[in-house]
Amino acid sequence: MTAEGSSQIDNVMQESRLFPPTPEFVAKAKINSADAYQTLYDASIQDTEAFWGKLAEEELHWFRPFETVYEKTENGVGWFVEGQTNISYNCLDAQIEAGRGDKVAFIWEGEPGDHRQLTYRELHREVCRMANGLKKLGIEQGDRVSIYMPMTPELPVAMLACARIGAIHSVIFGGFSAEAIAERNNDAEAKLIITADGGWRRGKVLPLKNIVDQALSKSPSIESCLVLRRTENDIQMQAGRDVWMHDLLDEVDEDCPATPLDAETPLFILYTSGSTGKPKGIKHTTAGYSLYTKMSFKWVFDYQEDDIYWCTADCGWITGHSYMVYGPLANGATVLLYEGAPNHPAEDRFWDIVERHKVTILYTAPTAIRAFIKWGDEHVEKHDLSTLRLLGTVGEGINPEAWIWYHEKIGAERCPIVDTWWQTETGGIMMSPLPGAIPTKPGSCTKPLPGIIPTIVDEEGNPVDTNHGGMLCISKPWPGMLRGIWGDEARHQEQYWSKVPGMYLTGDNARLDNDGYYWIMGRIDDVINVSGHRLSTIEVESALVSHPKVAEAAAVGRPDEIKGQAIAVFVTAKDAEAGDELRQELKLHVRKEIGALAVPDDLRFTAALPKTRSGKIMRRLLRDIAAGKEATGDTTTLEDFSVLAQLRQDDE
Ligand code: PRX
Repeated sequence: MTAEGSSQIDNVMQESRLFPPTPEFVAKAKINSADAYQTLYDASIQDTEAFWGKLAEEELHWFRPFETVYEKTENGVGWFVEGQTNISYNCLDAQIEAGRGDKVAFIWEGEPGDHRQLTYRELHREVCRMANGLKKLGIEQGDRVSIYMPMTPELPVAMLACARIGAIHSVIFGGFSAEAIAERNNDAEAKLIITADGGWRRGKVLPLKNIVDQALSKSPSIESCLVLRRTENDIQMQAGRDVWMHDLLDEVDEDCPATPLDAETPLFILYTSGSTGKPKGIKHTTAGYSLYTKMSFKWVFDYQEDDIYWCTADCGWITGHSYMVYGPLANGATVLLYEGAPNHPAEDRFWDIVERHKVTILYTAPTAIRAFIKWGDEHVEKHDLSTLRLLGTVGEGINPEAWIWYHEKIGAERCPIVDTWWQTETGGIMMSPLPGAIPTKPGSCTKPLPGIIPTIVDEEGNPVDTNHGGMLCISKPWPGMLRGIWGDEARHQEQYWSKVPGMYLTGDNARLDNDGYYWIMGRIDDVINVSGHRLSTIEVESALVSHPKVAEAAAVGRPDEIKGQAIAVFVTAKDAEAGDELRQELKLHVRKEIGALAVPDDLRFTAALPKTRSGKIMRRLLRDIAAGKEATGDTTTLEDFSVLAQLRQDDE
């Protein structure tokens, strides 16, 4: 068990409060009792294939019906084999056919305060135009399209347009650097990148196109660059490569029928950090992902037709894919999108948005909640939040204090909180309370969704007893599961499917309590979670050692009040220049290599790193030092005790 795991277990063990949903919530909920959940869950487990098969028939539109619900072949898995569907059709055309043409699909608010609304009919038209634009640029089924955009409506429009014609999107979060974009373009061999002149962040322009220009000097597969005009800052347009979006879309047709796609047609690649220096391109496919995001959205958010649903994520992360675009639209929901920062122009921006747009469901991250607590209750108290009926969290565990604050200050003790555990790889939420059915416990993601069987095992792969921590695995396939790592099947098999035979290895530790509730206890590997975003310590280390003045580096996570974890690095410099100047230079270097989100919070220089006799860096000790704790762990294999003493001294 990791150091983080053991400290978290002490923390959560003390939490025994149980919060049932209010009678008012239950009265309207679709799944409205523990028994109703159990009946649904039991049915899903007794005959899982029949369960998913029936839902797929009822909930998705098929150009051609499927013949087999699930099969495992030499080349991987197949869900809804022989069937043909299209997620863009399910999210748009099917909604218009169901009478939602004039219903608002997206309510968008830009950071400067500009607004836009798109009904399902209008969104359909925008997606068709964009899809025709993509075709005009030579994009065909199977081509990869990188998307590096601000949170404007054109971002989900671009995703849906790719999906409409079977092109594979790879959305790259706007905080990544030119190096990181180039790495992703090259790994996916993307043909097109869609970007904007800039995006608004805390009143300033983030110069996205300039960053893309740097990336494109190292991205040989990219043939064109499509540019949205957003911030009107000066940019260079390279003739023959760069195209303004408004010019391209000016002259395209407004109709573009969705292409019938085989169920396992790749839908998107999304890069995420693993325990090596190279990000993995997680691959999801069409039909299974469509069904899983649709159903999980419906169950977890107890979705009702008149809800105004706001997920505060960015489309650059999996939450933005599954629960800002595909899951909600497939249910015909009204989704609020916000471009900017939570504290611009002031710390009450989120509550102002909730009040003005009458938001009913708010889905955000613990790191944001901790920031709100720090900013003070007065920002919340200024606003009428009485339209809210349900709250959610995602990305990392929520500490009980933050949970209680969210429950009392935002939810007025009336709104259930769904603490949703899942991953980029799982495609959708795997464990979460169904809010009308399952009483919550602060800090627990409670129970599995229908069709999901979590299993906690020890190092040998044997199931552990109740209340014992162990590796969290999933012992049955589910439709939203990843279908591979782009271009690296060996890594896919090795990381997820081979350590515990027959099961999917999540990479998280977990514990099951006496009431059958699950508690996530942090990662097994060297992945840290900064503000709900996954970062590999090795990626940060690789970036540091690529600097000519660095001999060696180790990165670890340390607890942080707001971000959950902060990045602490220990650096051995090649010569004696170690000091503030080099510290600044190295931070800038990491920003350039990966992006702002990976810049170390602490950077210490050390003459040497503590290592075992076999040469492995003793990260456990570094974690203790970074956290300001005495390194009390086992040090018998530590090669050079004086290094440890030196590191502590530097701390003082
Ligand atoms: O460690 C878990 C943590 O975030 C990891 C997945 O990160 P990513 O693929 O970036 O997806 C984040 C959004 C789904 C998990 O392996 N994690 C995510 N949600 C929770 C969580 N840890 C505890 N509780 C959660 N609710």
